[in-house]
Amino acid sequence: PIIYIVTPTYKRAAQMADMTRLAQTLQLVPSIHWIVVEDSENLTQPVSNLLRRTGVPFTHLCSKKPKNKTNPTSGRGVANRMKAIEWLRNSSINDGVLYFADDDNSYDVRIFEEMRWTKKASVWPVGLASKYSISSPILKDGKVIGFHDGFKRSRLFAVDMAGFAVSIRLLKQSKNPSMPYRLGHLEDGFLKSLKIKMRDLEPKAANCTEVLVWHTKTLSKKMPSWENVKKEEETFTQSNLK
Ligand code: UGA
Ligand code: MN
Repeated sequence: PIIYIVTPTYKRAAQMADMTRLAQTLQLVPSIHWIVVEDSENLTQPVSNLLRRTGVPFTHLCSKKPKNKTNPTSGRGVANRMKAIEWLRNSSINDGVLYFADDDNSYDVRIFEEMRWTKKASVWPVGLASKYSISSPILKDGKVIGFHDGFKRSRLFAVDMAGFAVSIRLLKQSKNPSMPYRLGHLEDGFLKSLKIKMRDLEPKAANCTEVLVWHTKTLSKKMPSWENVKKEEETFTQSNLK
């Protein structure tokens, strides 16, 4: 089965650093299709170029995050992921696996072979996720009975975005797959929209004892103002010419 890897991405100083690392990880993985969805009005050149030189089969889309959401910090990557879901549902693809791979996480290539044979939904631990620095399904007799996660609240599926995959068949059979614009509730909302039950969850990564993916975050760096850069460069050059 082919794994459809959906990556939301947006313009920022660290974008190409993160995307290059992810692209070169995916170069090591057979039988995948990379769906990259930019949070922008138009496709951008740096991302187009990266996708072309990576050599992995891909689909390049864009979908700008709506402006008028009540909480501007909520729903990072939601519009993008929904765009990819729409693309998959309108396609003639009927089997395979869907995985949401954010552009700034770190992936051990073995995680892709773990998820490849997902029947409905598979789950596994994610390192460096939320308050406890690890998020993991809790198992009893090889069955998922709950979650160890720093953010539980009313979540039935207290998982990180990087901690699950679902089958395309399930996505296609489902009436109304959706992801809410609600901070912390994206994963739970999505899995509930697919009508997944706890008993459907297939634990992976040696019964959830191995960490094969990490929720890393690249330090954000502000771009300096062009005016300041110019001034500094001129002073520097002049003093060197003395
Ligand atoms: C956590 C979750 O792991 C994300 O899946 C979830 O979307 C996010 O919180 C949220 O609920 O807002 P976090 O590391 O805090 O992730 O978020 P980012 O890595 O900044 O963003 C998640 C993905 O969305 C990334 O692939 C990023 O490139 C993309 N994104 C982020 C956009 O497309 N647009 C944005 O404005 C921000
Ligand atoms: Mn992230």
